Amino acid sequence: MEHLLALEMIRVTEAAAVEAARLMGRGDKDEADRAAVEAMRATMDELEIDGSIVIGEGERDEAPMLFIGESVGKARVIGRKSYPEVDIAVDPLEGTNLVAYGQGGAITVLAASDRGGLLHAPDTYMEKLCVGPAAVGKVDIRRPPAENLEAIATSLGRRVRDLTVVILDRPRHEGLIGDVREAGARIKLIGDGDLSAAISCAVSGTGIHAVMGTGGAPEGVLSAAALRCLGGEIQARLRFRSDDERARGEAMGHGDEDRVYRTEDLASGENLVFAATGVTDGDLLHGVRFFGGGARTHTLQMAYRTKHVRFIDTVHMFDRDRPPAVRL
Ligand code: FBP
Repeated sequence: MEHLLALEMIRVTEAAAVEAARLMGRGDKDEADRAAVEAMRATMDELEIDGSIVIGEGERDEAPMLFIGESVGKARVIGRKSYPEVDIAVDPLEGTNLVAYGQGGAITVLAASDRGGLLHAPDTYMEKLCVGPAAVGKVDIRRPPAENLEAIATSLGRRVRDLTVVILDRPRHEGLIGDVREAGARIKLIGDGDLSAAISCAVSGTGIHAVMGTGGAPEGVLSAAALRCLGGEIQARLRFRSDDERARGEAMGHGDEDRVYRTEDLASGENLVFAATGVTDGDLLHGVRFFGGGARTHTLQMAYRTKHVRFIDTVHMFDRDRPPAVRL
């Protein structure tokens, strides 16, 4: 499954990125999201898989496409069941507002695994602590931020004041931001996109050393898939916003807010593949660049079992008869 999917999947995130990027700056986040979803779904149906969406655009009644439980892939289109069964988690556009307002850091994301390899997380919030390979096993989300920062700094051979922590800029993080400031670390407050930040903290050179705070649970599962491939770590606890969400969580067997989910709990699959394509320029990936007759995309693609991490630079020609000048 990994061999077949690893490279094919790139086409899915690339197609979504190109379509979403066309709508940059139009002030309409739903329109950008819809374009990404439609491109992702159409491209996915070309893959020779019997796919099932485990993390997507929401429940069947609230999302017309890529809803949880939806079948995708050629098996659905031509009704043939001999293709490999694959669980798929997607965030067709991570950072809808970033695209709508022409800001950096938006990506399109897909993770896939053999059946059961990605947690069916309830669509609620999740408190997260993400670190790169050096700090694996040295942090604990139950400890105060200052202690974790000290452990991360030691693991990287730095001082706490030389660390940069990404935190979503939300009123709910007032206490956390105060604690991190008091500990002395630098903070990068972001408007959206804690999934992109989670990947970045495990990629040396991005200048990001940890992600702390509460964001979407689906983004947490996708972060786990990426961090597992990169050898980083996420620790997480579910945070319900309402009784209704708590009831849904309980029904799915995930009602305990004290339970600490680790990387392998969220993304347990042995055959695990991940792809993310830049939509707008970010710390990790270039955004889509359009030029006469084509576009260029930048993608991170990884496979856990085969231990590959690839950065892929693709030129997309829009018209075979009028090829664009392909540059180095
Ligand atoms: P979009 O789904 O609009 O792209 O938002 C992404 C995001 O910023 C995630 O990165 C983050 O986990 C979540 O939203 C935070 O949710 P909220 O905006 O409700 O704080």
